[in-house]
Amino acid sequence: MALLSLNNYQFHQRLTINPPAQGVALTGRLRVPGDKSISHRALMLGAIATGETIIEGLLLGEDPRSTAHCFRAMGAQISELNSEKIIVQGRGLGQLQEPSTVLDAGNSGTTMRLMLGLLAGQRDCLFTVTGDDSLRQRPMSRVIQPLQQMGAKIWARNNGKFAPLAVQGSQLKPIHYHSPIASAQVKSCLLLAGLTTEGDTTITEPALSRDHSERMLQAFGAKLTIDSATHSVTVHGPAHLTGQRVVVPGDISSAAFWLVAASILPGSELLVENVGINPTRTGVLEVLAQMGADITPENERLVTGEPVADLRVRSSRLRGCTFGGEIIPRLIDEIPILAVAAAFAEGTTRIEDAAELRVKESDRLAAIASELGKMGAKVTEFDDGLEIQGGIPLQGAEVDSLTDHRIAMALAIAALGSGGQTILNRAEAAAISYPEFFATLGEVAQG
Ligand code: S3P
Repeated sequence: MALLSLNNYQFHQRLTINPPAQGVALTGRLRVPGDKSISHRALMLGAIATGETIIEGLLLGEDPRSTAHCFRAMGAQISELNSEKIIVQGRGLGQLQEPSTVLDAGNSGTTMRLMLGLLAGQRDCLFTVTGDDSLRQRPMSRVIQPLQQMGAKIWARNNGKFAPLAVQGSQLKPIHYHSPIASAQVKSCLLLAGLTTEGDTTITEPALSRDHSERMLQAFGAKLTIDSATHSVTVHGPAHLTGQRVVVPGDISSAAFWLVAASILPGSELLVENVGINPTRTGVLEVLAQMGADITPENERLVTGEPVADLRVRSSRLRGCTFGGEIIPRLIDEIPILAVAAAFAEGTTRIEDAAELRVKESDRLAAIASELGKMGAKVTEFDDGLEIQGGIPLQGAEVDSLTDHRIAMALAIAALGSGGQTILNRAEAAAISYPEFFATLGEVAQG
């Protein structure tokens, strides 16, 4: 029987995963697609810079496509998307056009939240913004409120909370915002809003979130001051941005699926090439090391301002661990696959301070508990975390991605290590961040 077979079922894809009785090992080398966060930022900064931006290695997932679509609607010239080389002819800061249609951010929180920072300061233009069923339920007040403090004119559904929303662009004033959450989307939104203001806009966050915006803004010529002791960043406005060449490294959040899969499937050895290892993203490597994973970075290098390495992973016996606090923003998107690692580890794993997972593409704490639970995992759900009792063999089951890309891929990896057949419903969600995921899985899996 084939390891993977994909069928269409009621407008969705249903993936059947049949691991052979002797188990599956993953071997060989692979490349993961471009980093999602960096891809969004390269498109956006390219669109608002003066001159030409060249992007190599862009993620061709649904999310960056949403960003490209929105910025094209505002007059940015973005060549046809491909992962080799695309060219963005920037309009210059403050020069976006009023779109004649609704801006649709699709499933992408990064598109909507970062874009709002730019729209708010775009004088004399009116914008309407929406997203898919998931995005229209995700909190937008976390960016709307500080933008309103800067003078932004934004109206949103449900008393300022949710998309669809409308923005009347206006001249913004700088503020110092103390964010209650460590969110790179909030931080980046306000940095982008600060670009057009006269003076200093500062964002202080409770813990350091990913710093791709800071790195890329500086590379494009913006003047920033970063105070790492207080997790504060200041943009000195008004800025002038000049188009650059951006080489997008592979996404560590996508690599994480292979790192865990090869760790838990005996006899595996994979080389995951060209992975971004920005320290604000490598919490997953630290937790996997603590769990006893055998992962070695090779060929470390710096590529257009971002650290990159090849990661060699060999299977090993994992043990449970506890993590929370400051590391959470540095592994926020990897918690679904770390929960799978925990289910295959000896002992108990506790994940703390992760309430943010409740407002991702799905309520990821609930999704992990319910879907891994169907496979026999012992998962206890707390308001802001999970406890997973590892070492209990999982059994294949019928599970659902809940349309969340990272839940889809995490469940597929859990299914590879389980006994019997798994049916994964709405598997197509993986295309948000990793369109080739199942094809690559078929290539590296040895029955
Ligand atoms: C992202 C920041 C994170 C992350 C998301 C991408 C970004 O969200 O979960 O997938 O590109 O800035 P938060 O800022 O909401 O934590």
